[in-house]
Amino acid sequence: MTAPHVSAGGTAALGTTEVHRMGYGAMQLAGPHVFGPPADRDAAVAVLRRAVELGVDHVDTSDFYGPHVTNEVLREALHPFDGLTLVTKVGARRDADGGWPSAMTREELVTGVHDNLHHLGVEQLGAVNLRLPDSWTGSLEEPFTVLRELQEQGLVAQLGVSNVSAAQLDEALALGPVACVQNSYNLVLREHDALVDHCAELGVAFVPFFPLGGFSPLQHDGLTAVATRLDATPMQVALAWLLQRSPAILLIPGTSSVAHLEENIAATSLVLGPQDVTELDDVTELDALA
Ligand SMILES: NC(=O)c1ccc[n+]([C@@H]2O[C@H](COP(=O)([O-])OP(=O)(O)OC[C@H]3O[C@@H](n4cnc5c(N)ncnc54)[C@H](OP(=O)(O)O)[C@@H]3O)[C@@H](O)[C@H]2O)c1
Repeated sequence: MTAPHVSAGGTAALGTTEVHRMGYGAMQLAGPHVFGPPADRDAAVAVLRRAVELGVDHVDTSDFYGPHVTNEVLREALHPFDGLTLVTKVGARRDADGGWPSAMTREELVTGVHDNLHHLGVEQLGAVNLRLPDSWTGSLEEPFTVLRELQEQGLVAQLGVSNVSAAQLDEALALGPVACVQNSYNLVLREHDALVDHCAELGVAFVPFFPLGGFSPLQHDGLTAVATRLDATPMQVALAWLLQRSPAILLIPGTSSVAHLEENIAATSLVLGPQDVTELDDVTELDALA
């Protein structure tokens, strides 16, 4: 499926903002392991400009990608970001070896938001996700309250949460509106199935990270079979499956290639039939690992 008439599809709510359901995740624009500069900065700029040309109006980033690199490339490509909703995240930082230690103290969260504002060159961020470290099983009240204060100062339009359980989402909602949840989720990684449905009931956008499998793009015989039948690529089918999975889902697939970007955006016009969906629903992580 190589439709030349690609577009970012219909729209859905990201909190109080309406965005196209096909957005873009900018993490892959930094260097290897999301550390340092991209191999080809001009190519990274071209991907971003092409995304916006094709109707993408929701871009996911973070100042800890690079660090700073992704935001700097975004700024070079798209500043002043007219009509774009920039969603970023705080709660981690990078160490000298490219590791991802958590950064959840008040000072680190405040610095994280200011670093995003500074490197993007904006006065307000569209949304900021509080990204919990994997080890964080307790309350998010303290860090989320810090972000609420920054929102009250006008530095952040909306708040979201990332890497959370349903209980942590509910705790955040008790403190005020939550625009989006960003957890890992894709065709073969369905640990957060119940949370996807919970978000739909609550009217909170669910924005899966690793929609294509992340650092190891999805491979599965069942996926390939459906793609072949539909004259589409497996990645397009994986994205179309997510779009039909829940109206709450907004997509932010990442790519450093214009060809892959166009392919991914064209997935918005791919229609899966009931038999396709049944076969794809049956795909499991175990099969994918086999
Ligand atoms: N909240 C969090 O903790 C968190 C964690 C991870 C990511 N994120 C966000 O989620 C976004 C999406 O996740 P992601 O970028 O890591 O993973 P992804 O979107 O699942 O997959 C990206 C990978 O798939 C490849 N790819 C993309 N389109 C393709 C296509 N049409 N055909 C073949 N390969 C294709 C890319 O390689 P090429 O560059 O070669 O296309 C890249 O290696 C990130 O950009 C980031 O903004 C958030």
